[in-house]
Amino acid sequence: MSRTIADLIQERFGLATEAGRGRPAEGALALLLSHRTQRRYKPDPIPDDVLEMALAAALSAPSKSDLQQVGIVLVKDRAKQTTIGGWIPDMPWIAQAPLFMVFCGDHRRIRRVSELRAHPFPNDTLDMFMNAAVDAGLGLQAFITAAEALGLGCCPISVVRNHVEKLAALLELPPGVFPVAGLCVGYPCPRSSSPTTPGARPGTRPRRRASASWIASGIRSPTDGRRTRRGSIPCRSATTSGRSSGATASAWPDLARGDSAT
Ligand SMILES: Cc1cc2nc3c(=O)[nH]c(=O)nc-3n(C[C@H](O)[C@H](O)[C@H](O)COP(=O)(O)O)c2cc1C
Repeated sequence: MSRTIADLIQERFGLATEAGRGRPAEGALALLLSHRTQRRYKPDPIPDDVLEMALAAALSAPSKSDLQQVGIVLVKDRAKQTTIGGWIPDMPWIAQAPLFMVFCGDHRRIRRVSELRAHPFPNDTLDMFMNAAVDAGLGLQAFITAAEALGLGCCPISVVRNHVEKLAALLELPPGVFPVAGLCVGYPCPRSSSPTTPGARPGTRPRRRASASWIASGIRSPTDGRRTRRGSIPCRSATTSGRSSGATASAWPDLARGDSAT
């Protein structure tokens, strides 16, 4: 076998592992492990059927209480896309992307259900906001994964929220619909940059090993490689730059055992 899932994990985290050594680097796992944000696109438009497949995948994401509170705006009016890009001049990829979208939370359905059933609606809470925002985030991720499977590249744009009132007016968002993130989409330009770390795939950004430890071992300080409640993992540091040379392969089996989550 040439490249394996284990190779992709190692490239992402800079941490040796045998997990996935027997699996070829293909399929959903390989796609997720190889993810990278793309900010430079070819001018080619996205065919309608390709877009439809990615949208269908986005709307297949899990949804809190099956309320399906994600709303997706396709900004097809180029002038509007240029306007949004003009508000954020340090991110020229917004105006340049062949497609710009906005993923929104949409509270309208739960309000409408209450109205139809003549129930009071005492749920105007932060939790309700959170539910719709999480639905939007899951839809965003599902869209990105599907788009990458179809050969596209994406860049989420949370900075649109710095312009939330102007954006809501420009896109004519109805009350109850709020933007969570924009998304630039297009066929990526071929890469010229070198890997961030020797052995890494070109352009993939390393992830902190400390983040991996959260999965099995509870929350750690994001700035501290030390465990909070139990024995040490050989992480040297957990800075945003990611990889450190202090870890050894033993960290992975340690996590995989899932010892007493805190
Ligand atoms: C919710 C969210 C918002 C983001 N907002 C922006 C943004 O406003 N501008 C941008 O260039 N990248 C943005 N990004 C992309 C991140 O910078 C990128 O995911 C991160 O650097 C990790 O790189 P990778 O996706 O290539 O692994 C955003 C990503 C997420 C998940």
